[in-house]
Amino acid sequence: MNDVIARTINLEKVYHPGEHNEVKAVRGISVELRTGEFVAVIGPSGSGKSTFMHLLGALDTPSGGDIEIAGKSLAALSDNARADLRAKELGFIFQGFNLLPTLNAIENVMLAGDYAGMAANVTEERARELLREVGLAERMDHAPSELSGGEQQRVAIARSLMNDGRLILADEPTGELDTHNSEVIVQLLKDLVTRKNKTIVMVTHNENLTRFTDRVIKIVDGQLAS
Ligand SMILES: Nc1ncnc2c1ncn2[C@@H]1O[C@H](COP(=O)(O)OP(=O)(O)O)[C@@H](O)[C@H]1O
Ligand SMILES: [Mg+2]
Repeated sequence: MNDVIARTINLEKVYHPGEHNEVKAVRGISVELRTGEFVAVIGPSGSGKSTFMHLLGALDTPSGGDIEIAGKSLAALSDNARADLRAKELGFIFQGFNLLPTLNAIENVMLAGDYAGMAANVTEERARELLREVGLAERMDHAPSELSGGEQQRVAIARSLMNDGRLILADEPTGELDTHNSEVIVQLLKDLVTRKNKTIVMVTHNENLTRFTDRVIKIVDGQLAS
């Protein structure tokens, strides 16, 4: 059995959108994620999938429970140490690609190297190599507006790999793509899991895409459903 790279323990998140309002978005989720696993997260809209991903990615703080990443309890870390863990171990891929429109493909990828504290002289070569790996050797100088949706998402995937983190979180990465491009992107993610021994957690509303994954976690009403 492979190592556990991340674990959530009785994870909870309560939002307080108004003075007398509360939304229990995540209600006691405990899961283990292992190295080399490609995991799909599915469930109805509003069921807490994005909240769960934000907590898992240390982008938001739980109301209860804890998360361990690479054996470290996030609750026990200082804000700085948590940011450091995020910079070293985590990669993020978003539905809307989140590329900076004024930077070309390679510059967008290189930016992630800067954030991860990589030396300037290695950043460009690494960004080139990753863009080649995702099939964009001929598109490195293109601005996001000069790329198709599928190509933009491949840039974002290359960006998520810059820090060589072990856990990659993708929230509806194919949400803005057609069927063909969705399958190309998910196949690419599957290849990364296999070739680079990454762990990828992917939220999707497209149950057809779960055939590419090793395991499915279903969240309904903030809780795990079988
Ligand atoms: N920042 C927030 N403040 C208040 N409520 C929120 C916030 N973010 C999400 N919610 C609520 O939490 C629930 C879960 O949302 P979300 O995690 O985005 O679901 P999903 O990604 O499965 O569609 C929803 O009821 C949503 O309205
Ligand atoms: Mg969501």
